[in-house]
Amino acid sequence: MSAASSHSRSFHSAEVVDPASYTPGFSYRGSQLYCEGVSVAAAAKKFGTPAYLYSRASIEQAYRRMDSAFGALPHTICYAVKANSNLGILRVFAALGSGFDIVSGGELYRLRRIGVPGNRIVFSGVGKSREEIREALRTRILLFNVESPAELDLLVSEASRLRVRAAASIRVNPDVKAGGHRHISTGHHSHKFGIDWDTARGLYLQYKDSRWIDWQGVSAHIGSQILSLAPHRRALARLAGFVRELRAKGITLRYLDCGGGLGIRYTSEQPPEKAAWAAELARVAQPLGCHLLVEPGRSLIGPAGVLLMRVLYTKQNRGKKFVIADAAMNDFMRPALYDATHPITRAKRSAGALARADIVGPVCESGDCFVQDWPLGEVAPEDVLVLWGAGAYGFVEASNYNSRPRPAEILVDGNKARVIRRRESRADLIRGE
Ligand code: LLP
Repeated sequence: MSAASSHSRSFHSAEVVDPASYTPGFSYRGSQLYCEGVSVAAAAKKFGTPAYLYSRASIEQAYRRMDSAFGALPHTICYAVKANSNLGILRVFAALGSGFDIVSGGELYRLRRIGVPGNRIVFSGVGKSREEIREALRTRILLFNVESPAELDLLVSEASRLRVRAAASIRVNPDVKAGGHRHISTGHHSHKFGIDWDTARGLYLQYKDSRWIDWQGVSAHIGSQILSLAPHRRALARLAGFVRELRAKGITLRYLDCGGGLGIRYTSEQPPEKAAWAAELARVAQPLGCHLLVEPGRSLIGPAGVLLMRVLYTKQNRGKKFVIADAAMNDFMRPALYDATHPITRAKRSAGALARADIVGPVCESGDCFVQDWPLGEVAPEDVLVLWGAGAYGFVEASNYNSRPRPAEILVDGNKARVIRRRESRADLIRGE
């Protein structure tokens, strides 16, 4: 990886608002940061660092806000498992009554391990293997979001072998530009996702009376970390027109799956409120009489998690200050992979001007930098730092690069903090070799 020229943006102190002020589940008691009733510094001491720490209350609040925003409209929130697939987190969603969106047999395995029934699961993804399709058919999932004609052929062949009818939907590529970064934008015709309108129309008609395919819906997912409603509106208008067109041709679809993608505030972003996003979707789904499915990941779990790390050293090179932490790009990829800026603060705040530094990890790459020229304040070795907005696409993207064991994951619930994934050991590092 090249030097992180991409996240060289300098932040003015005035621009940097403490994320505790806009992150549910986190607040200060005096100078100490708390996650619900648990001191963050005490958790770092007890469980070690680096560690992911999640607030259950924050997840519940996000889910309930979204759920109630849809009101009486028939809907199912299918939490996108890829955002954070820890069993402890999935159990929180299951207890809330959530459905789930999966993209692999591995994610299906996780859900089955915690007893989620098939009719709460939708299956997306451009590369479902024969085995994955078979497993999902056996689990009698709610919906296959088919992403190519070849996948549909495979689905038909497996369904006929198992003698079950597959509940299916086509994930259309709505040809809409959206998404915060080129790596996470998915709804344009140049992207690998979905099926173009004409091909989709042909497939719906071709399999209209199929013994093995039961057309139940149509779906679209246009990207992630989307910060305006406009692209959703454009995609939805096209989807609604398509549903009506198919209906006129005798194909009545029950489900309208609008995907995920709602953005969150990391630093100064101003994402739409969940209620505004929901209202936009409801406005289209309601008159169609469809049951709405949504697949949010980041907006439900992103703000609920932080990555705790400890200062190892501080140093200066020609006047430039570096804080070297015990977490690195292998533990949290988003800055290196998507040029993402995640605020980092001290678990114990203190008054005074905030000295600036680059906050970096121990991995041997210049790209192993969480944030540059950041107003962190004075720190010393052993101080605990908090990287915010790490609940989504955090641990799930962690690797063992540089033979670094992956972090522990801790779930806070009121005054209790519990390990939901133990820190990897040295033995874990060489398991299977
Ligand atoms: N549905 C489908 C079919 C998806 O591909 C995704 C995300 C979602 C739902 C959930 O989207 P969300 O509500 O979380 O935006 N690792 C990247 C994000 C990749 C998103 C991939 N697809 C990141 O850290 O920004």
